[in-house]
Amino acid sequence: MSPLRVTRTLPEDATDAALRADVQHGLTATPKTLPPKWFYDARGSELFEEITGLPEYYPTRAEREILADRAAEIAAATHARTLVELGSGSSEKTRYLIDALTGLDTYIPVDVSESALTQAGEALVADRPELAVHAVIADFTGRMTLPQAPQPRLVAFLGGTLGNLLPAERAAFLAAVRSLLAPGDALLLGTDLVKDEKVLVRAYDDEAGVTAEFNKNVLAVVNRELGADFEPGAFEHVAVWDTENEWIEMRLRSLAAQTVKVPALGLAVDFAAGEELRTEVSAKFRKEGVAAELTAAGLELTHWWTDAQDRFALSLSMAR
Ligand code: AVJ
Repeated sequence: MSPLRVTRTLPEDATDAALRADVQHGLTATPKTLPPKWFYDARGSELFEEITGLPEYYPTRAEREILADRAAEIAAATHARTLVELGSGSSEKTRYLIDALTGLDTYIPVDVSESALTQAGEALVADRPELAVHAVIADFTGRMTLPQAPQPRLVAFLGGTLGNLLPAERAAFLAAVRSLLAPGDALLLGTDLVKDEKVLVRAYDDEAGVTAEFNKNVLAVVNRELGADFEPGAFEHVAVWDTENEWIEMRLRSLAAQTVKVPALGLAVDFAAGEELRTEVSAKFRKEGVAAELTAAGLELTHWWTDAQDRFALSLSMAR
């Protein structure tokens, strides 16, 4: 059996330094913000898994439907020998791709979570002993270097996570992905699509309150990691559709005037009653917009697949 190889490109303390910088910057900015990547500690990842099964949260099911229907076409269009998955998490939907890519010899999951990587990696190594699995611990929003692996390569970025980046961050990210690719290599990108506002808002403000708990979890992360004294009950979950930017914003609204201390940063942060802290944008896309962003990054859209209800899209693009 080929062993699971793991490469760490993130120093052990990089996460801590990045969290400090983001909290320092975000809580002293106007309006206040925190980046969505800090939702995903063990509890946050568990809550996100729960969200993916909620009746209101359609993206995961829609993307799985497309992957199940189109994996053979993706395999035929790419002939990938290497599959790189950015933000691989549990790698659950990736099985459709791995099973369809008959010439695949290397799988490179990239994630910041070492536990997610080794769990998913070990399961794959056990099932597919001929497949070389080389897990990389890295933050895909930062600089990426990948292990040597045979071409053609397919980079997959699924789940609609591109939408959690702001437009300038998206451009930088896509350019960085392009720089990993050689001509003939491909990017498989999952993007949630613009649709009825009520459907969108419900997906981010579910009846059972799981998304509200997920949103407030970022406060628990800052409390634990930086000694802050956020009181999650003193904030309410807000999800709004921004028509102009075509994105969902998640916010935490302060229910009263309050001061939150962040001892690790020597910070005291005042919140006015009703003041909102932005914790996530989740952009929704149209085909023309995705094609234009890919073109700007040096990629060319070659395939566009949606689910039966046109809620979500998978696109394939090739390095030019
Ligand atoms: C799947 C990570 C892209 O924006 O839909 C789910 C995360 N946030 N509910 C998304 C999320 C609120 C999410 N991503």
